[in-house]
Amino acid sequence: MEPPKTLKSNIVLILDYGSQYTHLITRRIRTLSIFSLCISGTSSLKTITDLNPSVIILSGGPHSVHTPNSPSFPDGFVEYVEKNGIFVLGICYGLQLIVQKLGGAVAVGEKQEYGKMVIEVVKDCGELFGGGCVGEKQVVWMSHGDEAVRLPDGFEVVARSEQGAVAAVENKCRRFYGLQYHPEVTHSPKGMETLRHFLLDVCGVEAGWKMEDVMEEEIKVIRGMVGPQDHVICALSGGVDSTVAATLVHKAIGERLHCIFVDNGLLRYKEQERVMETFEKDLHLPVTCVDASVRFLSELKGVTDPEKKRKIIGKEFIAVFDAFAHDLEKKLGKKPTYLVQGTLYPDVIESCPPPGSGKTHSHTIKSHHNVGGLPKDMKLKLIEPLKLLFKDEVRELGKILDVPVSFLKRHPFPGPGLAVRIPGDVTQGNALDILRQVDEIFIQAIKDAGIYDEIWQAFAVFLPVKTTGVQGDQRTHSNAVALRAVTSHDGMTADWYYFEHKFLDDVSRKICNSVRGVNRVCLDITSKPPSTIEWE
Ligand code: XMP
Repeated sequence: MEPPKTLKSNIVLILDYGSQYTHLITRRIRTLSIFSLCISGTSSLKTITDLNPSVIILSGGPHSVHTPNSPSFPDGFVEYVEKNGIFVLGICYGLQLIVQKLGGAVAVGEKQEYGKMVIEVVKDCGELFGGGCVGEKQVVWMSHGDEAVRLPDGFEVVARSEQGAVAAVENKCRRFYGLQYHPEVTHSPKGMETLRHFLLDVCGVEAGWKMEDVMEEEIKVIRGMVGPQDHVICALSGGVDSTVAATLVHKAIGERLHCIFVDNGLLRYKEQERVMETFEKDLHLPVTCVDASVRFLSELKGVTDPEKKRKIIGKEFIAVFDAFAHDLEKKLGKKPTYLVQGTLYPDVIESCPPPGSGKTHSHTIKSHHNVGGLPKDMKLKLIEPLKLLFKDEVRELGKILDVPVSFLKRHPFPGPGLAVRIPGDVTQGNALDILRQVDEIFIQAIKDAGIYDEIWQAFAVFLPVKTTGVQGDQRTHSNAVALRAVTSHDGMTADWYYFEHKFLDDVSRKICNSVRGVNRVCLDITSKPPSTIEWE
């Protein structure tokens, strides 16, 4: 018997079987104001039942249900969902899993379907397409080799592809549904409409998830976790994630949050002043600014290997952070207990890697260079208030917390700072100073041209070579610099940004005319891959 609806949380749970689009499903559902979480497709039944979802989506994946050890939901899953009246939607591989596990058959398709495909409704009044009529067509995005060739008892085909393959199935009584295509990608233009209709109208999920609620909930969680005498520390990098995380924790526990901002001598033009001003004036965050530039730069002197540079910077961050924690202990008479980190959801999602890849479903958390790791003897407990949010959601939360929009839209800046933008020894000549001036001119020009928000990241690179030039009738032998600007969704891949020629001409002239020691400006026109975004 179905339990009363109130007993169920409004979560749409996604079981991930390794499709490259799985995270997109989560994001798309959240844009409908419905809370959605993604966990590994092979999670235990207890993990699933503890989350108490009202809908479960089985994602696509690169597997075939016939491959030995291909991933699947746990034993007892079907009984659990049926007993609790939970709706299940299989997408691509997820559909094939449902068909196979419930007694149907899946086989290698006669014609494989990859890319754009037209599908046609073959059943009147099916639930998936809002009662669409036979003959209605739509374009969808397919990506499958296997197909359902015999459906389990009680299932009906709702739509087929033009090639005749099963494209959508449903069993209204048992609340199992399946789409062979990917409704979450923009190449399926009606996909969002189908998802919305399925979740709101068929499953009756309530669309009330708001960022304000997330904020209130997180504040409650932080207050419940941090005892009234406990102190919390946070390393601010000047980036969006750590700033929003700190602002939220500050709202929850006030003066018991202690932030540190480290000037490592590798920051951009006037960055220390600008960031500190935002922290103090706009956010009223209690921040200790530590100028550690001398110790960072003296450790980096003469070091040219990129990895060695990164390691030194990481180690110095830990040392500065450790000293800060010990100073606090002396002042407060007790050790700080918690550390705030701006970890985001993509860093913690467990994914389901293909069999044979040698990977397990690990809980991986990116190591943050800007935090520099935990001091060994501190044994701090972590507060990660953003760990269920995507980057754009963090920006939205930041807006609610009154973090200035200009700050929220800042381009990412790597933890090792300008060190990865000066190939070789960062302390050579006045490389850092030259780079800061060039970078400032470039970024200001981008802002003036109104294109800052179109670009994922833009910066200048100091080239450790001298080239010949002629300036004011004199031959010069000065440095070259490179300009880099890329567009990207997540930094994993990137395209170089197409500037107008006039813009480039103006910037290049301004740099050579106003920065002493530069007589040549190059433009980096490589995408990622084959290059990386940073030069080191
Ligand atoms: P790459 O250069 O790997 O950069 O294409 C991808 C994104 O990551 C940033 N990045 C870093 N961030 N520590 C960081 O905190 C690092 O060592 C680091 N290296 C690269 C880079 O700026 C880009 O946004």
